Amino acid sequence: MSERITLSVIKADIGSIAGHHMVHPDQMATATKILAEAKQKGLIIDFYVANVGDDLQLIMTHTKGPDNPDIHGLAWDAFKAAAKVARELKLYAAGQDLLSEAFSGNVRGLGPGVAELEMEERVSEPVVTFHADKTEPGAFNLPIFRIFADPFNTAGLVIDPKMHDGFIFEVYDVMEGKNVLLNSPEEMYDILALIGTTGRFVIRRVYRKSDNLLSAVVSVERLNLIAGRYVGKDDPVAIVRAQHGLPAVGEILEAFAFPHLVAGWMRGSHYGPLMPVPLRYAKVTRFDGPPRVIALGWNINKGRLIGPVDLFDDVAYDETRRLAQLIAEYMRRHGPFMPHRLGPEEMEYTTLPDVMRKLKDRFVKAEDAYKVVKKEHVS
Ligand code: F6R
Ligand code: MG
Ligand code: MG
Repeated sequence: MSERITLSVIKADIGSIAGHHMVHPDQMATATKILAEAKQKGLIIDFYVANVGDDLQLIMTHTKGPDNPDIHGLAWDAFKAAAKVARELKLYAAGQDLLSEAFSGNVRGLGPGVAELEMEERVSEPVVTFHADKTEPGAFNLPIFRIFADPFNTAGLVIDPKMHDGFIFEVYDVMEGKNVLLNSPEEMYDILALIGTTGRFVIRRVYRKSDNLLSAVVSVERLNLIAGRYVGKDDPVAIVRAQHGLPAVGEILEAFAFPHLVAGWMRGSHYGPLMPVPLRYAKVTRFDGPPRVIALGWNINKGRLIGPVDLFDDVAYDETRRLAQLIAEYMRRHGPFMPHRLGPEEMEYTTLPDVMRKLKDRFVKAEDAYKVVKKEHVS
C-alpha cells in the first residue's frame, strides 16, 4: 500500500497593503522561502503559496496526516514571518489573525483557517482547492451541496454508477461545536434544513457513500467566535477531489456559475454575491469586495503538486462575473438597509448598543410620543 498523502490548505490574514485589500508580494516571498526550506528538509513534499485578497494561502502536501504539530508549526512560522514583514512595511492590520503569540501544536482555534484532506492517492488524483475572501465558511454550503447532492448540477449523480448511491454530508454546528452525519439523497431535506442557516451549520466534510471515500473538506473556523469578539474575517478554504466516481471538475466548477449571496462583504457586515475570479483578480476593491473565490486545479503525484490551473480564468465565467456585478450594484443601492446589511446578531461592526444607550431616556410609550411632539411644538 502506498503512503497516505495529506493535502493541507492553511490560510491567514496577517496584514495587507492599502487596507484589507491584498497580500504584499514580500509577504508571499517570505512564506515561500520558509516552505521551500521545509521542503528541502523533507518535512513537506511540495507546496504552493497564493493569495486571495488579504489572505495568505499555504497549500502543502506531506505524509504526516491532518492536525500534525510539525505541519501546523510550519504554517505558523510562515505566517509569523509574513506578519513580521507586514510590521516592517507598516502594512495594514499586521498579524491580525495570529490571535495568540504562543503556538501550542495546532493552529485550529488560534485564528488561521484549515482544510486538510488525507488520501490514498488514486491512479490519477485530480483535486480542486477553493480559496475565498470577504466571506465565511457557510458560503461553501450552497456550492458543495449542489456538487454532491443536486442532480441538476452534477450529471454524474444520475448517470455514473459509482456516484449513484449518493454522498454523506458531515455538517458542523459552529455554535455547539458538534457534527452530524446525514445521507444524501435520503435525508436531503434535513441537510437543507440545517445548511440553509449558513452562519451556524457548515458542511465540513463529504464522503462517497459506496466506500466512505473522503471527497471534500471545508475549513470551519469562525474567528469572531474563537476570539469572543471580532478580530478578522473567517474567510474559508475548501478541498474537493474530482473525477472517476467523483464529480467531474466541470461539475465542481458548475456550482459556482451562479454568484449566490454570501455574508462577509464590507466590515464583515454585508451580503454580496460570491464572484468566481482568476488569480489576477483576487483582490478586493469595490466596497472591499465583492466577495471573491478562486479555484486552483491540481494533480497530486506521489505528493507532488502538479499545477495549479487557474480554473476560473475562463471566458465561460464572464457572464457569472457580469451577473455578480449587477447583483453587487443592486445590493449596494440598499446602503445601510437589510438585507444588504446583515442582521444585528451577525454584524461584526455595530453602533446599535451605543445608539440605544444614548437614546434610552428619549424612548417613551408609543401613545405618549404624540404628546411629546405636541408639547415641544407648542412651547
Ligand atoms: C476586512 C474587511 C474590511 C474591513 C474594513 C474596515 O477583512 O472585510 O471590509 O472590515 O476595511 O476595516 P478597519 O476597521 O480595519 O478600518
Ligand atoms: Mg480576508
Ligand atoms: Mg481580512
